Amino acid sequence: MSIRLGDDAPDFTAQTTEGEIKFHDWLGDSWGVLFSHPKDYTPVCTTELGMAAKLKPEFDKRNVKIIGLSVDPLESHVGWEKDIEETQGQAINFPMIADPDRKVSDLYGMIHPNASDTFTVRSVYVIGPDKKVKLMITYPASTGRNFDEVLRVIDSLQLTSKYSVATPVNWKAGDDCIIVPSVSDEDAKTKFPAGFKTLKPYLRITPQPDKVEAKETAA
Ligand code: BEZ
Repeated sequence: MSIRLGDDAPDFTAQTTEGEIKFHDWLGDSWGVLFSHPKDYTPVCTTELGMAAKLKPEFDKRNVKIIGLSVDPLESHVGWEKDIEETQGQAINFPMIADPDRKVSDLYGMIHPNASDTFTVRSVYVIGPDKKVKLMITYPASTGRNFDEVLRVIDSLQLTSKYSVATPVNWKAGDDCIIVPSVSDEDAKTKFPAGFKTLKPYLRITPQPDKVEAKETAA
């Protein structure tokens, strides 16, 4: 069964570079990003892991724990991490799952046989504090991921989990938002005290609500 948005993120126990973890316990009340790599000692993965480690403070700020996975064994991960630090100028500061028996890769559908029978594709799963899957992105081995995009989507997911808004095309934190159609104009007046612009009855624009609240608190 493939995983779909809103499903429970499968739990597992695995060996990682930071010791054995039970996934759900390790996540605790945090958000999580679980991302897979085709193989250790590969060039694109090396750059991705260096970047993910550099961005760790940004994930921490958002209460998001990050964890990588590759099907190679633990000793291989440990050796590779030295190369990553040397070439990317950044030590890995999050656990890497060793999945030589493909237990976790199979659980999360990270092996796509038409791409490769042996390597995982570049999967990204964002998991909410309720342990539900909030986002899935799949890249081929030849294309490195954009971790700024992962952070951007997390900003949207966290905002839309608190307020009755959606985020428009190319939105980034701080930009105006869209009021979801299920909110009436009457309710929108109280929910969005900064006001809203009606371009069409189904397209109503409001300033980002938590930005407005932060300004009000500071005033
Ligand atoms: C890489 O990470 O560089 C890579 C891995 C598998 C196939 C192609 C590239």
